[in-house]
Amino acid sequence: MSDWQDIRVSSKILGHVSAGIYRSPAGAIKELVSNAFDADATRVAITTNWPSFDIITCRDNGSGMSQEKFELIMTQEIGDSDKRLAIDGSAGDLTDQGRPIIGWLGIGMLGVAQICHEFKLISHYKKDRAAFKASIRLGDFRGEEKHYISQEQVPKQPIDVGKFKIEPIDYDPDKVGTYIIASDMRSAFVVKFRESLADNPLPLPSKFSEFLKVIHRARSVKSLSDYWQMVWELSVACPLSYKDEGAFNWNKIEVEPELRKQLVELQETLRTYQFEVVIDGLALRKPNQYPLFDPRLPKAKQTKGKLFSLNKSVKVRGETLKLSGYIYLQYSRAVEPMELRGLLIRIRNIAIGTYDPNLFEFPQVPSPRFNWISGEIYVEKGLEFALNIDRDSFNEMNPHFVKLREVIHSLLEDEILLEAGRGQRKLTAKKHENMQQEKQTKLESLIHQELGDDYALASSDEQQFPLIIDTDQNLVVMNNQSELLPNSKSKRELVQFIAHAFEISMLVPANERREKFYQLLSNFAKSGLL
Ligand SMILES: Nc1ncnc2c1ncn2[C@@H]1O[C@H](COP(=O)(O)OP(=O)(O)OP(=O)(O)O)[C@@H](O)[C@H]1O
Ligand SMILES: [Mg+2]
Repeated sequence: MSDWQDIRVSSKILGHVSAGIYRSPAGAIKELVSNAFDADATRVAITTNWPSFDIITCRDNGSGMSQEKFELIMTQEIGDSDKRLAIDGSAGDLTDQGRPIIGWLGIGMLGVAQICHEFKLISHYKKDRAAFKASIRLGDFRGEEKHYISQEQVPKQPIDVGKFKIEPIDYDPDKVGTYIIASDMRSAFVVKFRESLADNPLPLPSKFSEFLKVIHRARSVKSLSDYWQMVWELSVACPLSYKDEGAFNWNKIEVEPELRKQLVELQETLRTYQFEVVIDGLALRKPNQYPLFDPRLPKAKQTKGKLFSLNKSVKVRGETLKLSGYIYLQYSRAVEPMELRGLLIRIRNIAIGTYDPNLFEFPQVPSPRFNWISGEIYVEKGLEFALNIDRDSFNEMNPHFVKLREVIHSLLEDEILLEAGRGQRKLTAKKHENMQQEKQTKLESLIHQELGDDYALASSDEQQFPLIIDTDQNLVVMNNQSELLPNSKSKRELVQFIAHAFEISMLVPANERREKFYQLLSNFAKSGLL
């Protein structure tokens, strides 16, 4: 068994490490999943030891790594990844299985430090038919002043962040891949996770559709436990495929054929990666589903939406920024769960942060229409240098990010929010039309009740009065343009109904007339016509 050795991290990143790299445990686990993806694993299994959360494990069936490689990483390469030749998305950046490589900084694995003081790593490396086991103890450098070293103070020297030791173990071809066991969890994480179970002690279901059902019922993930939130974040962030039926119900969505083809291809590409992530027995998928089927509504009244293409390639200071993906606009109905509202950026299929409901600070007063929007911006080229080291946010001054925001904002302003406005007006008009139709039907049935079934309603602008009853032809003839009617539309309608009551009561003998008139007014009121 070897002795403990120092882990060395290039000082250029330590300032960031000490500031705490990841926003949430999901961020740290996302890094392990990304490494498994890069290692061509087809399955990653994560366990959390729910509900105590005291041991977190992550096992993949990827290529594994050699003991020498691991030693090199720990002593020289943290902060210096050698995975990619170039990071501009050019050729050569694919794994053996043809997946676009995610890692490029050489710091992701260290993110586990966010959730534990110590972890073990076991790797069975297929190529050398060799295996090793390492223990990694991490210094408590987060937020501690003495470890915060800015680039100006110590420019080049590597810094110790903890210790590690390695021992070779027997190679087992059935265990090819990498297994990470995080124990001695940080209490901040464990306590918070356990506490949040008090209100929502639900374990995960075994089916992803059940998981989504609970979330849709709750309408947001926020109201569930930290644990559920972490699982949700992973399902959004990881390079997973969409659900089998796809993210879009094409019958309910207006879309250009070209965009539809692209989105079908995108879903297919993700499927070809054959990458499965299972957490505590639950196999994850991307949670997107548009429009959401509402079982309370009849088929004809289900929500509809429209898709807008994001295809764009621009040069920013000589570097290409290439985008694809979609923005989905749901007509007059907020997207649910609320965690899907807004826009999400993906670089190499991995989500950066979460959906931004403020649409990257879109310069308009937030309106409910913002909630009708859900989009995924796939960055095909560029933007990577704008990433902050947490890989969950961007440096907003970076020219690529500034450009991306500009492109998205003009699309929102020139097309999407305009369409949202049109959709709203169309819907209001439709509602109004339905209401008119309903009133007409009620009126007809009242008239038939009073005058008999052979009476019909007609309209003519040739007569002087708003309404006459032609007893020869069995017609009730209306003139909505009559000068005897008031100008206001709603008052005109009201007077028309009173005119009906008046004209019908004129047909009965004089001594019954007054009673008839009031009785009709009362019937009209009861049917909601007045
Ligand atoms: N699950 C794994 N399977 C095989 N090799 C791995 C695995 N996890 C890490 N490695 C090796 O360890 C190295 C360091 O991983 P780490 O996540 O810290 O950096 P990276 O993936 O190269 O870059 P990034 O910081 O952008 O993720 C990787 O480059 C890879 O060689
Ligand atoms: Mg990585």
